[in-house]
Amino acid sequence: MYKLISYWTAPSAERQDEFEREYQDTHIPLALACPGVRRAALTRTPDGLGGPPAFYRAVEIEWDDRDAFEASTASPQWAALVEDTVRMIETYGVSTQGALGTPEVHDPSPGMAPVDEILTTTRAVRRRLDLDREVDPEVLKECIELALQAPVGAGRAGPHFVVVTDAAKKKVIADHYRDHGRGLLAAGVEGAEDEEARKVMESALYLADILERVPVLVIPCVQGRWDTSTHADQSSSFGSVLPATWSLQLALRSRGLGSAWTTIHLYRKDEIAELLGLPADVTQAALLPVAHTTGGRFKPASRPPVDDVLHWNSWD
Ligand SMILES: Cc1cc2nc3c(=O)[nH]c(=O)nc-3n(C[C@H](O)[C@H](O)[C@H](O)COP(=O)(O)O)c2cc1C
Repeated sequence: MYKLISYWTAPSAERQDEFEREYQDTHIPLALACPGVRRAALTRTPDGLGGPPAFYRAVEIEWDDRDAFEASTASPQWAALVEDTVRMIETYGVSTQGALGTPEVHDPSPGMAPVDEILTTTRAVRRRLDLDREVDPEVLKECIELALQAPVGAGRAGPHFVVVTDAAKKKVIADHYRDHGRGLLAAGVEGAEDEEARKVMESALYLADILERVPVLVIPCVQGRWDTSTHADQSSSFGSVLPATWSLQLALRSRGLGSAWTTIHLYRKDEIAELLGLPADVTQAALLPVAHTTGGRFKPASRPPVDDVLHWNSWD
């Protein structure tokens, strides 16, 4: 990859809206029209590092390699972009500086593809849920839209997601969760077989204690009741909601939000269905507390070695 990074100084405060309109609607489309341009990443830079910001805007434009960049900058489209840059500079009294190079990417897990990183670091987040920061409903909606790409059994209704942000309703759900779960989880702490299991139980107990303070509770549901249905039917029904639930957790993680798969509220599913006005034929699958995460990175979990659980052609 070959990258051009340009920095722009700020237009006067009165002309910023006008500048923004022209920059986004005219200038950047001209950049994207240049042959070989793969991507333009735009950043408005309102925040400085321990002082006022050093510049107003940055744009990073990417080509496959230096040859592609050179071919691109020899094109009439590039000439039109340069002309527009000069026009913007003269019109708004701004200046721009640029630099070029081949990026070297150093990510926190070298060698791991971004999707693998998300798959291995989407943990049950409880103690690191930020109880004081609101979750943007648009971000949540975007994650749910992505989750809807998960598979659904043929001819089955897909998942629904009931999002609870109402403080009074969260309190009722949390009370049911604690009423049923507290004793169970406390016994889990007492009876934990090892340090790791005890920590999980303690963290689950913590979640029970603060559940109503988590900004968002999401209850994935699916249409249909299968209390008396066949194994295949039950599998198809749960299989039409659980993949989407996990996709939702992955999408949340990729946007800096944490969640935890929980099921304790299901012991009070009828009371919660009534509270949320769920139709009688709707089944709740889980409850995800959702919030931004506080500090720290998430590490892959300890899981059994793959050879202990992988069976080729037969169980033995
Ligand atoms: C089916 C299922 C039900 C779960 N129910 C709860 C629950 O009710 N409360 C809770 O705090 N965690 C619950 N968990 C989360 C597990 O405790 C979690 O997977 C465990 O803490 C390990 O976390 P990790 O995946 O980050 O290693 C549940 C997980 C699964 C898969």
